[in-house]
Amino acid sequence: MPISSTDVPVPDNVPILDVDPYADVALADPFPLHAAVRAAGPVAFVPKYGVYFMGRHADVLPTLKDWRRFSSTSGSGIADIRRPDAWRAPSPIVEVDPPQHTAIRKALQRVLSPRLIKSWGERFRPVAGALVDTLVERGRVDAATDLAEAFVCDLFPAAIGWADHPERRARLMLLGALNFDGQGPRNARFLATEAAAAGIMDWNDSQMRRDALAADGFGREIYEAADRGEIAPEVAPLLIRSFIRGGLDTTTSMISAAVHHLAEAPAQYAALRADPTLVRRVLDESMRLETPIQTVCRLTMEDVEIDGVPVPANNKIILLLASANRDPAAWDDPDAFRLDRPPQHSHVALGAGIHMCIGQMIARMEGELILEALIERVREIVPVGPATRRLNNNLRAHRSVPVELVAAR
Ligand code: HEM
Repeated sequence: MPISSTDVPVPDNVPILDVDPYADVALADPFPLHAAVRAAGPVAFVPKYGVYFMGRHADVLPTLKDWRRFSSTSGSGIADIRRPDAWRAPSPIVEVDPPQHTAIRKALQRVLSPRLIKSWGERFRPVAGALVDTLVERGRVDAATDLAEAFVCDLFPAAIGWADHPERRARLMLLGALNFDGQGPRNARFLATEAAAAGIMDWNDSQMRRDALAADGFGREIYEAADRGEIAPEVAPLLIRSFIRGGLDTTTSMISAAVHHLAEAPAQYAALRADPTLVRRVLDESMRLETPIQTVCRLTMEDVEIDGVPVPANNKIILLLASANRDPAAWDDPDAFRLDRPPQHSHVALGAGIHMCIGQMIARMEGELILEALIERVREIVPVGPATRRLNNNLRAHRSVPVELVAAR
């Protein structure tokens, strides 16, 4: 009988899948693996990692919402973050349960007010416009690096209040890669990223300190929430770390995916230009199909049964958000990018329940600014080469999306 990573025997009637979800081939094309997990049952045990995987939308959504039985405290990745040799300290928001989570979330929601996000939108709208103007002039560009990455790595750190640095963008992308590789196993990919990032960790830590943050950034406001006693002072730098690591690559991935889909489907881009209110649908459909964060993890707090399959207490379940988002039982024509998709289900690219993405309004605002700038200035987005991917243990993102931006006039 196989034994799980937390030394708990696996019950006899649990489907066993002899697969490696973190192998290059599975990361490059995860869809056959997702189909295999969904076909195996509501959950399947993967002996290579000693954890359970869940891939059906009908199971993933209620599990995300059931924090009492499915806890976040063992970490957002496959490794147990509570262990003394864990590769980093736990996040004070995404890796805690109520009541700690409730207090921190409330304090952060106060900081990230709709008014604040609107003011960033106003500040960065001309920046998005100027960036797209420059790229239209160039004609052939990489929508992943020249557009999505350049914009997000400019806006987001400035909003937090990070000082500029000649290598800031490269460093931020490396930190993001480390964060999401770290959510997978300690495989060669993670170890290589960890080694590459070793030299910037002091810089990274220094950026979280209060005196390093600009007075008008929301990083300072997090420290002020600590001054008011709303959060513990030692939590402030860790929260800023969670924002930087969780908010950059995800948003970049969503924007690259949106431009990629619009380039591949000119009729949909024309529909968007004719009706700019479709921007929100473009972003949601891109998030559903891409699912930047492919999985989140939960720990069973008691013996549970998932659609008749038992999972004993103290086991990690990897929730395949990306699989749920293309589950044919939940979506008609699940792999198609469709702006006329009738409302069916909620996608789970932003999670669900108490941990649902707290930065989604920021991500949406960034996506809207870029799409609105494109609609105004670009008549056609033409693919001029194959889109390529960068492989990561838990982030799905393009390395490159080569396109030509054809000026509107
Ligand atoms: C398209 C972009 C984004 C995607 C796809 C995304 C995805 C997610 C997902 C799936 C979760 C749930 C994690 C879980 O249940 O374990 C989450 C939570 C979170 N996200 Fe995002 N995110 C995005 C943008 C952002 C941004 C821009 C920020 C920062 C401003 C951010 C900060 C956070 C934080 C702090 C949490 C934890 C919330 C909590 O535990 O209450 N995210 N995100």
